[in-house]
Amino acid sequence: MPLILAIESSCDETAASVCVDGKIISNFIANQKVHEQYGGVVPELASRAHMQNIVPVVDAALQTANCKLETIDAIAFTRSPGLIGSLLVGAQFAKSLSLALNKPLIAVHHMQAHVLANLIADPKPDFPFLCLTVSGGHTQIVLCESPYKMKVIGETIDDAAGEAFDKSAKLLGLPYPGGPLIDKYAKGGKADRFKFPEPQIPGLDFSFSGLKTSILYFLQNAGKSHIYKEEFMATEEEKRKFIENNLADICASIQHRIVTILLNKLKKASIETGITDICIAGGVSANSGLRKGLEETGKKYGWRTFIPAFEYCTDNAAMIAITGYYKYLAGDFTDLSVNSSARAEW
Ligand code: KG4
Ligand code: ZN
Repeated sequence: MPLILAIESSCDETAASVCVDGKIISNFIANQKVHEQYGGVVPELASRAHMQNIVPVVDAALQTANCKLETIDAIAFTRSPGLIGSLLVGAQFAKSLSLALNKPLIAVHHMQAHVLANLIADPKPDFPFLCLTVSGGHTQIVLCESPYKMKVIGETIDDAAGEAFDKSAKLLGLPYPGGPLIDKYAKGGKADRFKFPEPQIPGLDFSFSGLKTSILYFLQNAGKSHIYKEEFMATEEEKRKFIENNLADICASIQHRIVTILLNKLKKASIETGITDICIAGGVSANSGLRKGLEETGKKYGWRTFIPAFEYCTDNAAMIAITGYYKYLAGDFTDLSVNSSARAEW
Protein backbone atom coordinates (compact mmCIF):
# COMPACT_ATOMS: atom_id res chain seq x y z
CA MET A 1 0.00 0.00 0.00
CA PRO A 2 2.60 2.63 -0.90
CA LEU A 3 1.58 6.21 -0.09
CA ILE A 4 3.19 8.60 -2.55
CA LEU A 5 3.32 12.38 -2.28
CA ALA A 6 3.86 13.90 -5.74
CA ILE A 7 4.96 17.41 -6.71
CA GLU A 8 4.70 19.02 -10.16
CA SER A 9 6.28 22.40 -10.96
CA SER A 10 7.55 22.18 -14.54
CA CYS A 11 5.87 25.27 -15.96
CA ASP A 12 3.31 27.63 -14.46
CA GLU A 13 1.20 25.34 -12.27
CA THR A 14 2.26 24.39 -8.77
CA ALA A 15 0.62 21.05 -8.00
CA ALA A 16 0.66 18.30 -5.36
CA SER A 17 -1.14 14.98 -5.12
CA VAL A 18 -1.37 12.02 -2.75
CA CYS A 19 -1.80 8.53 -4.14
CA VAL A 20 -2.34 5.37 -2.08
CA ASP A 21 -1.75 2.02 -3.76
CA GLY A 22 -2.21 3.53 -7.24
CA LYS A 23 -5.39 5.44 -6.34
CA ILE A 24 -5.45 9.23 -6.37
CA ILE A 25 -6.68 10.51 -2.99
CA SER A 26 -6.03 14.23 -3.47
CA ASN A 27 -4.97 16.49 -6.30
CA PHE A 28 -4.28 20.21 -5.83
CA ILE A 29 -3.24 22.89 -8.33
CA ALA A 30 -2.37 26.55 -7.92
CA ASN A 31 -2.63 28.35 -11.27
CA GLN A 32 -0.47 31.39 -11.88
CA LYS A 33 -2.60 34.24 -13.21
CA VAL A 34 0.39 36.62 -13.27
CA HIS A 35 1.39 35.53 -16.82
CA GLU A 36 -1.87 36.49 -18.57
CA GLN A 37 -0.90 40.15 -18.91
CA TYR A 38 2.38 39.18 -20.66
CA GLY A 39 0.82 36.89 -23.31
CA GLY A 40 2.91 33.89 -22.24
CA VAL A 41 4.67 32.32 -19.28
CA VAL A 42 7.45 34.53 -17.84
CA PRO A 43 10.00 32.04 -16.41
CA GLU A 44 11.30 34.30 -13.63
CA LEU A 45 7.78 35.06 -12.39
CA ALA A 46 6.84 31.38 -12.61
CA SER A 47 9.75 30.36 -10.33
CA ARG A 48 8.83 33.03 -7.80
CA ALA A 49 5.17 31.99 -7.79
CA HIS A 50 6.19 28.33 -7.25
CA MET A 51 8.20 29.47 -4.21
CA GLN A 52 5.08 31.13 -2.78
CA ASN A 53 2.64 28.35 -3.66
CA ILE A 54 4.49 25.14 -2.96
CA VAL A 55 4.03 24.94 0.83
CA PRO A 56 0.26 25.71 0.84
CA VAL A 57 -0.35 23.39 -2.14
CA VAL A 58 1.50 20.44 -0.57
CA ASP A 59 -0.28 21.16 2.73
CA ALA A 60 -3.68 21.16 1.02
CA ALA A 61 -2.95 17.86 -0.77
CA LEU A 62 -1.87 16.20 2.50
CA GLN A 63 -4.79 17.57 4.50
CA THR A 64 -7.42 16.56 1.95
CA ALA A 65 -5.94 13.06 1.89
CA ASN A 66 -6.01 13.10 5.69
CA CYS A 67 -2.38 12.12 5.64
CA LYS A 68 0.49 13.00 7.95
CA LEU A 69 3.98 13.62 6.59
CA GLU A 70 5.40 10.68 8.60
CA THR A 71 3.14 8.21 6.77
CA ILE A 72 4.54 9.00 3.30
CA ASP A 73 6.45 6.10 1.69
CA ALA A 74 8.10 8.09 -1.10
CA ILE A 75 8.22 11.55 -2.67
CA ALA A 76 7.85 11.84 -6.45
CA PHE A 77 8.67 15.04 -8.33
CA THR A 78 8.98 16.27 -11.91
CA ARG A 79 12.68 16.19 -12.86
CA SER A 80 12.33 17.15 -16.54
CA PRO A 81 11.48 18.66 -19.00
CA GLY A 82 10.31 22.21 -18.32
CA LEU A 83 11.43 25.67 -17.27
CA ILE A 84 14.60 25.14 -15.28
CA GLY A 85 13.81 27.71 -12.58
CA SER A 86 10.37 26.17 -12.06
CA LEU A 87 11.70 22.61 -11.98
CA LEU A 88 14.36 23.54 -9.41
CA VAL A 89 11.75 24.75 -6.89
CA GLY A 90 9.85 21.43 -6.96
CA ALA A 91 13.03 19.33 -6.99
CA GLN A 92 14.58 21.18 -4.08
CA PHE A 93 11.39 20.93 -2.06
CA ALA A 94 11.11 17.19 -2.76
CA LYS A 95 14.77 16.61 -1.86
CA SER A 96 14.40 18.50 1.42
CA LEU A 97 11.36 16.42 2.37
CA SER A 98 13.15 13.22 1.40
CA LEU A 99 16.11 14.19 3.58
CA ALA A 100 14.00 15.31 6.53
CA LEU A 101 11.69 12.25 6.48
CA ASN A 102 14.34 9.77 5.37
CA LYS A 103 12.04 8.53 2.59
CA PRO A 104 13.02 7.63 -0.98
CA LEU A 105 12.90 10.11 -3.83
CA ILE A 106 11.39 9.31 -7.25
CA ALA A 107 12.31 11.41 -10.31
CA VAL A 108 9.55 11.63 -12.93
CA HIS A 109 9.63 12.64 -16.60
CA HIS A 110 6.75 15.09 -17.18
CA MET A 111 5.86 13.78 -20.66
CA GLN A 112 5.90 10.14 -19.54
CA ALA A 113 3.60 11.18 -16.71
CA HIS A 114 1.17 12.77 -19.21
CA VAL A 115 1.06 9.37 -20.99
CA LEU A 116 0.52 7.43 -17.75
CA ALA A 117 -2.35 9.76 -16.76
CA ASN A 118 -4.32 7.25 -18.84
CA LEU A 119 -3.71 4.65 -16.09
CA ILE A 120 -5.28 6.76 -13.31
CA ALA A 121 -8.88 5.59 -13.81
CA ASP A 122 -10.74 2.61 -15.27
CA PRO A 123 -11.14 1.53 -18.01
CA LYS A 124 -7.39 1.48 -18.69
CA PRO A 125 -5.70 0.76 -22.03
CA ASP A 126 -3.88 -2.57 -22.50
CA PHE A 127 -0.17 -2.55 -23.34
CA PRO A 128 1.10 -1.83 -25.90
CA PHE A 129 -0.89 1.34 -26.58
CA LEU A 130 -0.30 4.52 -28.55
CA CYS A 131 -0.59 7.92 -26.91
CA LEU A 132 -0.83 11.24 -28.69
CA THR A 133 0.76 13.63 -26.20
CA VAL A 134 -0.17 17.20 -27.01
CA SER A 135 0.80 20.10 -24.77
CA GLY A 136 2.09 23.66 -24.92
CA GLY A 137 5.65 22.47 -25.44
CA HIS A 138 5.32 19.02 -27.05
CA THR A 139 3.47 17.06 -29.70
CA GLN A 140 4.43 13.41 -29.80
CA ILE A 141 3.10 9.99 -30.66
CA VAL A 142 4.37 7.64 -27.97
CA LEU A 143 4.40 3.85 -28.22
CA CYS A 144 3.94 2.69 -24.64
CA GLU A 145 4.95 -0.94 -24.07
CA SER A 146 4.77 -0.81 -20.28
CA PRO A 147 4.85 1.90 -17.56
CA TYR A 148 8.64 1.62 -17.88
CA LYS A 149 9.14 1.34 -21.61
CA MET A 150 8.02 4.11 -23.93
CA LYS A 151 9.28 5.25 -27.28
CA VAL A 152 8.56 8.46 -29.21
CA ILE A 153 7.68 7.38 -32.77
CA GLY A 154 6.63 10.79 -34.10
CA GLU A 155 7.00 14.39 -32.99
CA THR A 156 6.73 17.97 -34.11
CA ILE A 157 9.59 19.43 -36.11
CA ASP A 158 8.66 23.00 -35.10
CA ASP A 159 5.74 24.31 -32.99
CA ALA A 160 3.75 22.13 -30.59
CA ALA A 161 -0.02 21.74 -31.08
CA GLY A 162 -0.67 23.87 -27.98
CA GLU A 163 1.58 26.58 -29.40
CA ALA A 164 -0.36 26.41 -32.67
CA PHE A 165 -3.55 27.07 -30.70
CA ASP A 166 -1.98 29.79 -28.53
CA LYS A 167 -0.20 31.59 -31.40
CA SER A 168 -3.35 31.50 -33.57
CA ALA A 169 -5.33 32.93 -30.66
CA LYS A 170 -2.76 35.68 -30.22
CA LEU A 171 -3.14 36.63 -33.91
CA LEU A 172 -6.88 36.91 -33.24
CA GLY A 173 -6.20 39.26 -30.32
CA LEU A 174 -7.22 36.69 -27.69
CA PRO A 175 -5.40 36.53 -24.32
CA TYR A 176 -2.95 33.79 -23.27
CA PRO A 177 -3.43 30.84 -23.09
CA GLY A 178 -5.64 31.04 -26.16
CA GLY A 179 -6.21 27.29 -26.70
CA PRO A 180 -9.25 27.03 -24.40
CA LEU A 181 -10.71 30.24 -25.94
CA ILE A 182 -10.41 28.92 -29.51
CA ASP A 183 -12.18 25.78 -28.25
CA LYS A 184 -14.93 27.90 -26.69
CA TYR A 185 -15.59 30.11 -29.75
CA ALA A 186 -15.26 27.16 -32.16
CA LYS A 187 -18.37 25.59 -30.62
CA GLY A 188 -20.61 28.10 -32.41
CA GLY A 189 -18.71 28.13 -35.72
CA LYS A 190 -18.55 26.38 -39.10
CA ALA A 191 -15.37 24.29 -39.35
CA ASP A 192 -15.46 24.11 -43.17
CA ARG A 193 -15.88 27.85 -43.75
CA PHE A 194 -12.15 28.68 -44.10
CA LYS A 195 -9.67 26.15 -45.46
CA PHE A 196 -6.17 26.20 -43.98
CA PRO A 197 -3.51 24.07 -45.67
CA GLU A 198 -2.42 20.68 -44.25
CA PRO A 199 1.40 20.38 -44.10
CA GLN A 200 2.94 17.54 -46.09
CA ILE A 201 5.46 16.10 -43.61
CA PRO A 202 6.67 12.55 -44.21
CA GLY A 203 6.36 9.76 -41.63
CA LEU A 204 4.77 10.32 -38.24
CA ASP A 205 6.21 13.79 -37.59
CA PHE A 206 4.14 16.97 -37.33
CA SER A 207 4.60 20.59 -38.35
CA PHE A 208 2.50 23.56 -37.29
CA SER A 209 4.59 26.60 -38.20
CA GLY A 210 3.14 26.78 -41.75
CA LEU A 211 -0.38 26.90 -40.33
CA LYS A 212 0.54 29.88 -38.17
CA THR A 213 1.97 31.72 -41.20
CA SER A 214 -1.11 30.99 -43.32
CA ILE A 215 -3.37 32.31 -40.55
CA LEU A 216 -1.21 35.44 -40.34
CA TYR A 217 -1.57 36.14 -44.09
CA PHE A 218 -5.25 35.20 -44.02
CA LEU A 219 -5.87 37.83 -41.32
CA GLN A 220 -3.64 40.43 -42.95
CA ASN A 221 -5.80 40.02 -46.05
CA ALA A 222 -8.99 40.07 -43.94
CA GLY A 223 -9.95 36.62 -45.20
CA LYS A 224 -9.47 37.31 -48.92
CA SER A 225 -6.49 34.98 -49.33
CA HIS A 226 -4.00 32.76 -47.45
CA ILE A 227 -1.26 33.96 -49.75
CA TYR A 228 0.56 37.13 -48.88
CA LYS A 229 -0.35 39.80 -51.43
CA GLU A 230 0.35 43.50 -50.89
CA GLU A 231 -2.70 44.57 -52.94
CA PHE A 232 -5.02 42.72 -50.50
CA MET A 233 -3.54 44.25 -47.33
CA ALA A 234 -6.40 45.18 -45.02
CA THR A 235 -6.25 48.17 -42.67
CA GLU A 236 -6.09 47.45 -38.92
CA GLU A 237 -9.76 48.49 -38.69
CA GLU A 238 -10.83 46.13 -41.51
CA LYS A 239 -8.87 43.31 -39.90
CA ARG A 240 -10.45 43.95 -36.51
CA LYS A 241 -13.96 44.01 -37.99
CA PHE A 242 -13.33 40.85 -40.02
CA ILE A 243 -12.20 38.98 -36.89
CA GLU A 244 -15.08 40.34 -34.84
CA ASN A 245 -17.71 39.33 -37.43
CA ASN A 246 -16.26 35.88 -38.14
CA LEU A 247 -14.63 34.83 -34.87
CA ALA A 248 -16.58 31.59 -34.38
CA ASP A 249 -16.02 30.36 -37.96
CA ILE A 250 -12.31 31.31 -37.88
CA CYS A 251 -11.80 29.48 -34.55
CA ALA A 252 -13.75 26.43 -35.74
CA SER A 253 -11.72 26.30 -38.99
CA ILE A 254 -8.36 26.66 -37.17
CA GLN A 255 -9.34 24.01 -34.61
CA HIS A 256 -10.56 21.67 -37.35
CA ARG A 257 -7.20 21.93 -39.18
CA ILE A 258 -5.10 21.34 -36.03
CA VAL A 259 -7.28 18.37 -35.05
CA THR A 260 -7.16 16.78 -38.54
CA ILE A 261 -3.35 17.13 -38.65
CA LEU A 262 -3.17 15.29 -35.30
CA LEU A 263 -5.71 12.57 -36.13
CA ASN A 264 -4.31 11.82 -39.58
CA LYS A 265 -0.89 11.05 -38.08
CA LEU A 266 -2.47 8.99 -35.33
CA LYS A 267 -4.32 6.91 -37.98
CA LYS A 268 -1.02 6.39 -39.78
CA ALA A 269 0.71 5.32 -36.55
CA SER A 270 -2.06 2.83 -35.75
CA ILE A 271 -1.86 1.30 -39.24
CA GLU A 272 1.96 1.08 -39.12
CA THR A 273 2.14 -0.48 -35.64
CA GLY A 274 -1.11 -2.50 -35.70
CA ILE A 275 -1.95 -1.02 -32.26
CA THR A 276 -5.61 -0.13 -31.69
CA ASP A 277 -5.65 0.96 -28.02
CA ILE A 278 -5.26 4.71 -28.55
CA CYS A 279 -4.92 7.39 -25.84
CA ILE A 280 -4.47 11.13 -25.77
CA ALA A 281 -2.77 13.19 -23.07
CA GLY A 282 -1.47 16.68 -22.33
CA GLY A 283 -3.16 20.07 -22.13
CA VAL A 284 -4.51 20.04 -25.69
CA SER A 285 -6.35 16.76 -24.99
CA ALA A 286 -8.79 18.99 -23.09
CA ASN A 287 -9.86 20.31 -26.53
CA SER A 288 -13.45 19.33 -27.28
CA GLY A 289 -12.84 19.07 -31.05
CA LEU A 290 -9.94 16.65 -30.50
CA ARG A 291 -11.89 14.58 -27.95
CA LYS A 292 -14.88 14.28 -30.31
CA GLY A 293 -12.63 13.66 -33.33
CA LEU A 294 -10.77 10.88 -31.51
CA GLU A 295 -14.01 9.13 -30.58
CA GLU A 296 -15.37 9.36 -34.13
CA THR A 297 -12.11 8.17 -35.70
CA GLY A 298 -11.95 5.36 -33.11
CA LYS A 299 -15.44 4.15 -34.03
CA LYS A 300 -14.56 4.18 -37.72
CA TYR A 301 -11.26 2.29 -37.34
CA GLY A 302 -12.21 -0.11 -34.52
CA TRP A 303 -9.98 1.53 -31.88
CA ARG A 304 -10.52 1.50 -28.14
CA THR A 305 -9.97 5.14 -27.23
CA PHE A 306 -8.98 6.59 -23.86
CA ILE A 307 -9.02 10.20 -22.69
CA PRO A 308 -8.02 11.15 -19.14
CA ALA A 309 -10.51 13.14 -17.04
CA PHE A 310 -10.25 16.86 -17.74
CA GLU A 311 -8.24 17.62 -14.56
CA TYR A 312 -5.64 14.99 -15.52
CA CYS A 313 -5.17 16.38 -19.05
CA THR A 314 -3.59 19.75 -18.25
CA ASP A 315 -0.55 19.89 -15.96
CA ASN A 316 -1.27 18.22 -12.62
CA ALA A 317 0.47 16.22 -9.89
CA ALA A 318 -1.85 13.18 -10.02
CA MET A 319 -0.05 12.04 -13.18
CA ILE A 320 3.29 12.45 -11.35
CA ALA A 321 1.85 10.40 -8.46
CA ILE A 322 0.68 7.51 -10.69
CA THR A 323 4.07 7.44 -12.45
CA GLY A 324 5.74 7.57 -9.03
CA TYR A 325 3.60 4.61 -7.93
CA TYR A 326 4.80 2.42 -10.83
CA LYS A 327 8.40 3.50 -10.24
CA TYR A 328 8.01 2.67 -6.54
CA LEU A 329 6.84 -0.85 -7.45
CA ALA A 330 9.92 -1.25 -9.64
CA GLY A 331 12.23 0.15 -6.91
CA ASP A 332 13.27 2.92 -9.29
CA PHE A 333 14.50 5.54 -6.80
CA THR A 334 16.94 8.38 -7.24
CA ASP A 335 19.53 9.84 -4.87
CA LEU A 336 19.74 13.35 -3.46
CA SER A 337 22.35 14.44 -5.99
CA VAL A 338 19.80 14.29 -8.85
CA ASN A 339 19.68 17.41 -11.01
CA SER A 340 16.72 18.99 -12.82
CA SER A 341 16.82 19.14 -16.61
CA ALA A 342 15.02 21.52 -18.95
CA ARG A 343 15.49 19.11 -21.85
CA ALA A 344 13.15 16.33 -22.90
CA GLU A 345 15.44 13.28 -23.35
CA TRP A 346 13.48 10.09 -22.64
O1 KG4 B 1 0.08 20.14 -20.74
P1 KG4 B 1 -0.17 21.59 -20.49
O2 KG4 B 1 -1.16 21.96 -19.42
O3 KG4 B 1 1.16 22.34 -20.18
C1 KG4 B 1 2.35 22.05 -20.84
O4 KG4 B 1 3.06 21.12 -20.35
O5 KG4 B 1 2.58 22.70 -21.87
O6 KG4 B 1 -0.64 22.21 -21.89
C2 KG4 B 1 -0.91 23.59 -22.04
C3 KG4 B 1 -1.41 23.82 -23.45
C4 KG4 B 1 -1.59 25.30 -23.81
O7 KG4 B 1 -0.99 25.53 -25.06
C5 KG4 B 1 -3.10 25.48 -23.85
O8 KG4 B 1 -3.53 26.51 -24.72
C6 KG4 B 1 -3.54 24.14 -24.34
O9 KG4 B 1 -2.72 23.22 -23.65
N1 KG4 B 1 -4.95 23.88 -24.04
C7 KG4 B 1 -5.91 23.79 -25.00
C8 KG4 B 1 -7.13 23.57 -24.33
N2 KG4 B 1 -6.88 23.53 -22.97
C9 KG4 B 1 -5.54 23.72 -22.82
N3 KG4 B 1 -5.81 23.88 -26.33
C10 KG4 B 1 -6.95 23.74 -27.04
N4 KG4 B 1 -8.16 23.55 -26.47
C11 KG4 B 1 -8.30 23.44 -25.13
N5 KG4 B 1 -9.51 23.23 -24.58
ZN1 ZN C 1 2.38 19.25 -19.51
